[in-house]
Amino acid sequence: MRLPRFIWYLFARLLVSFSEIGIPFFLWSCKHVALIRKYARSYRALELMYTYTSKKTPNPILFPDPNENSSMAHQGIKETFFTNFWERNVDNAREVRSRLAITKKELHQAISIQRQIGHNIHILSVGSGSARAVIEVLAENHKNGVKATLLDISRSALRYSEELAKNFRESLETCRVNIFQFLPETERKFQIVEMVGLAEYIEEEALILLLENIWDVLAPGGILIFSHIAPNKEMDFISVIVGWIMIYRTKEEIKRIVANTPFKKIERCISTPLGIHHLYVLRKT
Ligand SMILES: C[S@@+](CC[C@H](N)C(=O)[O-])C[C@H]1O[C@@H](n2cnc3c(N)ncnc32)[C@H](O)[C@@H]1O
Repeated sequence: MRLPRFIWYLFARLLVSFSEIGIPFFLWSCKHVALIRKYARSYRALELMYTYTSKKTPNPILFPDPNENSSMAHQGIKETFFTNFWERNVDNAREVRSRLAITKKELHQAISIQRQIGHNIHILSVGSGSARAVIEVLAENHKNGVKATLLDISRSALRYSEELAKNFRESLETCRVNIFQFLPETERKFQIVEMVGLAEYIEEEALILLLENIWDVLAPGGILIFSHIAPNKEMDFISVIVGWIMIYRTKEEIKRIVANTPFKKIERCISTPLGIHHLYVLRKT
């Protein structure tokens, strides 16, 4: 059931205004969203949204606890009804799926540009989480020699990515590191860097530092694809009811941040349909 938008926004606002009832109602409604709240800001919550439409049997590595895993099969009328209700109505859930699709498209495009230049292509994913976009693109390109390195501080996220890429494991390297330590220390160069879904957890000063570090690890002519989340009508619902706290920035703020880095300017901006996420293509010239 998809509500008319004004009714949905009104309902979301009511839940926020009466959050002492709104949060328990959200948790009671279905395990699917209770897990998203429990694992907010992590690859587990994102994977629940990314794979919602595919209705695949959940990978036990995502939720090793059998109690949590069983909820994923959308069992029972209540579970099915509310899982569909939230996933279809919450703009933010729909928009992360659009962000995933755009990231994959941009990765494909970056690969074909780098191939024309004649480079061996190595992708670096910063704060990789499940790395679904990178791995799905790698699945189609590993036979042409494309390789990827994933950086994340979470061992379980990396283990999950390794499982997703088990059929072409030799093309994927996973590194459990703090990006703020790893990037300044490495001498390696990458043709493509992907940093999607990370900027919204990083304060401005650290974000500038991170973009400077990424500049240093990009090969000449290399491409950075990165995203951020913009202020939107569901911000309060996402922070209070879903418990997912992020830093919301406008496109103008991002332009100003980029201007303070060696990249200086944004080559291209692609937005999700409702403008909740903006993805940028930047190039090391
Ligand atoms: C929201 S998730 C990942 C999103 C993922 N790139 C995607 O598009 O689905 C952010 C990830 O960044 C990782 N992370 C956060 N701070 C980090 C740090 N300082 N070093 C390495 N990884 C970090 C977290 O462990 C988490 O997996």
